[in-house]
Amino acid sequence: MKDEVHGRSQPGQAEPKVKNKEVVALEDAEAQEEMEANKKRHLNVVFIGHVDAGKSTTGGQILFLSGQVDDRTIHKYEKEAKDKSRESWYMAYIMDTNEEERVKGKTVEVGRAHFETETTRFTILDAPGHKSYVPNMISGASQADIGVLVISARKGEFETGYERGGQTREHVQLAKTLGVAKLLVVVNKMDDPTVNWSKERYDEIESKMTPFLKSSGYNVKKDVQFLPISGLLGSNMKTRVDKSICSWWNGPCLFEALDCIEVPLRDPKGPFRMPIIDKFKDMGTVVMGKVESGSVCEGDSLLVMPNKAQVKVVAVYCDESKVRCAGPGENLRVRLSGIEEEDILSGFVLSSVVKPIPAVTEFTAQLQILELLENAIFTAGYKAVLHVHSVVEECEIVELLQQIDPKTRKPMKKKVLFVKNGAVVVCRVQVNNSICVEKFSDFPQLGRFTLRTEGKTIAVGKVTDLPVA
Ligand code: GTP
Ligand code: MG
Repeated sequence: MKDEVHGRSQPGQAEPKVKNKEVVALEDAEAQEEMEANKKRHLNVVFIGHVDAGKSTTGGQILFLSGQVDDRTIHKYEKEAKDKSRESWYMAYIMDTNEEERVKGKTVEVGRAHFETETTRFTILDAPGHKSYVPNMISGASQADIGVLVISARKGEFETGYERGGQTREHVQLAKTLGVAKLLVVVNKMDDPTVNWSKERYDEIESKMTPFLKSSGYNVKKDVQFLPISGLLGSNMKTRVDKSICSWWNGPCLFEALDCIEVPLRDPKGPFRMPIIDKFKDMGTVVMGKVESGSVCEGDSLLVMPNKAQVKVVAVYCDESKVRCAGPGENLRVRLSGIEEEDILSGFVLSSVVKPIPAVTEFTAQLQILELLENAIFTAGYKAVLHVHSVVEECEIVELLQQIDPKTRKPMKKKVLFVKNGAVVVCRVQVNNSICVEKFSDFPQLGRFTLRTEGKTIAVGKVTDLPVA
């Protein structure tokens, strides 16, 4: 995992000292007040879309516009980009921090950064668009609450992204399954000479995208909002685009749209669940992840599942700062005692002791088959790679139980032995190693998954039943 763009916190510093009780109690009350006073809501936003759509450029521009990158750094990036014959890529360099990414002009690992608007603290997750890195995109999207779908309006580029096999489609379908509830669709590169802020081009893209977004399960009226921008020039981002540049746009700019986006509140009192996406050694064992349910506080006893290891929370870090407690939706680093770093794998879940997350090697699921590899048939014995929250695991379909009529959503009577593209089917799925999942109806984020074969997403699904423990 690459470093965060902004001052990755040093969990080694600012260790809790032994304090006498009164001081702790007082600080607790203060911390509580502080938490309530400056409690801007927090949202994780993933940038998705076809390769070269401008996700990193737009992400970088957001950081620049919110005053987190100074002119000197921009000039340095301009020079570096020029030396690599990638002049126009300098804004993307803010997010693309690896040498490989800069040389090739392609994001590989999900970039992470933070910024704030009037109402909200955002964590940006900048996903790669290239099809080889879809697993990284899945990991980014699985941490997100909302998505910014970046589409290039440049002549020919919208078309390639939107074609069958293009990542505009694949990303939208994955985002929906992975729990990205709302989408801002930014039509980018409006400044490009082939576009020149043309209303016709913008309308064409909106009208082609709308039916597709609908068919992917988004309620286009409630959950989707379109807007035009230039990520490279920063137009219609922090402030509304000037009428002299774009006379026909009367809607919001990107920051306003992000400010107003509403997502359902999560329950801070639910059983604690934090899928682990990464871990490292730093004065103990530090795990990273997003809290999907419940809250965690310094001093808590928890379980690392599926291996049922008892651990104690030594410290909690949210974004850059150390906090006493943190609730659902937060991206955290949690320092643990009682476990070695080697005994944790990404995909494990930090979990409540009283109500631990189920660990299973088999479950029942409802799958929607998207697009199988050529000549493949989907039947018992089918093997694929399962992606569920931060788990990546080989799996096998051991039995097809029932086919569902996609129109009526009712089970079909006929016994099912195999299915084709577009089918909805209930089946039993097995994995070799124990994994942590939940029923979709209980915890959607921990019960939705994708199946991939040879680098292609072939199905999306949800866990409908777990074996009785
Ligand atoms: P991947 O990470 O590889 O998926 O690409 P990306 O979506 O992050 O695209 P990136 O930001 O790297 O930009 C790709 C190219 O498009 C670069 O040359 C950018 O300068 C150019 N670009 C991005 N946004 C704009 C824009 O608003 N206008 C114009 N004219 N070019 C843009
Ligand atoms: Mg990128």
